[in-house]
Amino acid sequence: MSVKLSEKYLKGFVSPTEVDKISHIAEAAYSVVKNRSGAGSDFLGWVDLPVNYDKEEFARIKVAAEKIKKMCDVFVVIGIGGSYLGARAAIEFVKSPLYNNLKKDTPDVYFAGNSISSSALSDILKLCEGKDVCINVISKSGTTTEPAVTFRIFRELLEKKYGEDGARERIFVTTDRARGKLKEFSTDKGYETFVVPDDIGGRYSVLTAVGLLPIAVSGCDIDAMMKGAADAREKYSDPSAKTNECIRYAAIRNIMYNKGKSIEILVAYEPAAQMLCEWWKQLYGESEGKDNKGLYPSSVIFSTDLHSLGQYVQEGLRTMFETVIDFKKSSDTVVIPDDPNNIDGLNFLSGKELHDVNRMAMTGTLFAHNDGGVANVVLEVEDRSEYSFGYLVYFFELACAVSGYMLGVNPFDQPGVEAYKKNMYALLGKPGYEDQKKALEARINK
Ligand code: PA5
Repeated sequence: MSVKLSEKYLKGFVSPTEVDKISHIAEAAYSVVKNRSGAGSDFLGWVDLPVNYDKEEFARIKVAAEKIKKMCDVFVVIGIGGSYLGARAAIEFVKSPLYNNLKKDTPDVYFAGNSISSSALSDILKLCEGKDVCINVISKSGTTTEPAVTFRIFRELLEKKYGEDGARERIFVTTDRARGKLKEFSTDKGYETFVVPDDIGGRYSVLTAVGLLPIAVSGCDIDAMMKGAADAREKYSDPSAKTNECIRYAAIRNIMYNKGKSIEILVAYEPAAQMLCEWWKQLYGESEGKDNKGLYPSSVIFSTDLHSLGQYVQEGLRTMFETVIDFKKSSDTVVIPDDPNNIDGLNFLSGKELHDVNRMAMTGTLFAHNDGGVANVVLEVEDRSEYSFGYLVYFFELACAVSGYMLGVNPFDQPGVEAYKKNMYALLGKPGYEDQKKALEARINK
């Protein structure tokens, strides 16, 4: 088993009886997911994806990844939101946040098109100078401004460097099967394309080609990742909130929310999990933050952030609870050396493995935060393997859908994301937005 939920640090905050009391609601929400009977049910393709994925495309992803590994030093992944967070989370989780700096026989992987910052893009362009480059542009809609503009810039770069035919060999596109500008354009140009399935939204798409191609290029074992997700799917096919920890996690979140908590902080004691936290924030933020409802998903990496936000968690407003990911094993071993002179007074740590010290910091913090009035859910995760990543992704996705339905929202839409886009298009003079432009200019000049 790769994820185990512990309620030990909920004592005094949420009792098992309270969870039992709302079990029927959590179980009903779970069956709405399983029976595909709720709002947004057209976007439930991820539920059976770990066993129903397109095997032909999966094989093609592996072939493309091998080709990319041979052809380039730098692989640029262009996408935003659900079209990049999962891949980046997986690579950092399994490999390292320092993946690009480590000695390896796979290309450096950079993520572009996830902001509109000139400096961020210039930095990546500079890193591509003198290197062989391949790109993967990922956009389900094929119209999102950030990746579309970035793709235009990289396309020009590749065509100048390799000619149109050479560039075609180095451009990989992941988009809708049939619709959208990017699809039309790719067909026209003859780029190799991969599919974002119709029934899977961006933030649930990491185990489709969206995530799998970049993840495979980094040398991660995508078979093991899918196996982890498939085992989680099997494990969480149990409809009882008593024994299905995914349903239980959703129920606990709901109890916290109804007790007046407004923030959930995802905590990990591994910097390698920072981007997993970013992926999780998008998943829960976009799925639940609507109709003036929802827990605000936040995250910290401890012990790093115990020296910044730790003070607030310990003694600030009591508006939050924490969900702590406890990695049982570390990917590496570092033993603290003995110093016969004990000048730094640290000999009580001599011979100890750093990961054990880290876990002691965690246990100490769990009790301290409990004492400070903050409830903690603990998710014990075996390790940072591909298998555990796939398992954890499935756990969080399913719990998010159940939690969203318990809250009474559609967990699969994101209508609020459009508001900024419309204003930006209007201000930039996009045809069709003339009235909105006038209205905004009047507000600016007021
Ligand atoms: O979860 C979502 O649907 C969004 O975050 C999208 O992934 C994001 O907006 C990017 O959209 P697209 O893939 O259409 O460019």
